[in-house]
Amino acid sequence: MTVLYTLRDVTKRYGDKTVLSVDALDIHTGEILALVGPSGAGKSTLLRLLNFLQPATTGVMHFEKSQIDPGQEAPVEVRRRVTTVFQRPVLLKRSVESNVAYGLRLRGRRESEALVQTTLAAVGLSDLAKQHARTLSGGEAQRVALARAMVLEPDALLLDEPTANLDPYNVGLIEQIVAKLNRERGRRSYW
Ligand SMILES: Nc1ncnc2c1ncn2[C@@H]1O[C@H](COP(=O)(O)OP(=O)(O)OP(=O)(O)O)[C@@H](O)[C@H]1O
Ligand SMILES: [Mg+2]
Repeated sequence: MTVLYTLRDVTKRYGDKTVLSVDALDIHTGEILALVGPSGAGKSTLLRLLNFLQPATTGVMHFEKSQIDPGQEAPVEVRRRVTTVFQRPVLLKRSVESNVAYGLRLRGRRESEALVQTTLAAVGLSDLAKQHARTLSGGEAQRVALARAMVLEPDALLLDEPTANLDPYNVGLIEQIVAKLNRERGRRSYW
């Protein structure tokens, strides 16, 4: 497997507090990597670094051939290849399908009705395409957030506790969706 991310001696500090310290981490294409650790361990912080939302304080990161130095913003071409579903996803006060289409617009991608509908089918929400996002259950809302990320066909899909606070049925559904996506498209999924 080819290496997608390389991290060496990466730390993240907020003020004088070091909240993350990674000696060496390689993440390969097609790999599913799960981060496990207690609250405050730095899991979400690592995802913000992998998503290039925040730069590392020290150390060097590579995303394939691109080197991102500490304190530097990653180039937009790199940032666009990675998508995150955040711990508390916020949906727009619109229909389910327009939430998914919005993901495409935001990234400057052409809106594709077919792609939106295929993605909604992949997360089991075809029947709710026209429903208002406000009226969804927690599990349905989380699947909309997942569809909004999947529709972008990222090289790395970063998921921050995508099954937290969900019932066992929705936890199972989301795990199946991610496993299937990884199998079929050889995409990379992390949480
Ligand atoms: N912007 C910030 N400024 C200061 N401290 C921060 C900031 N963001 C995160 N932290 C601190 O960094 C530490 C790691 O936070 P992080 O959110 O990465 O933990 P986590 O492993 O995701 O926890 P949880 O399981 O509760 O989501 C925490 O102690 C947190 O308070
Ligand atoms: Mg967290």
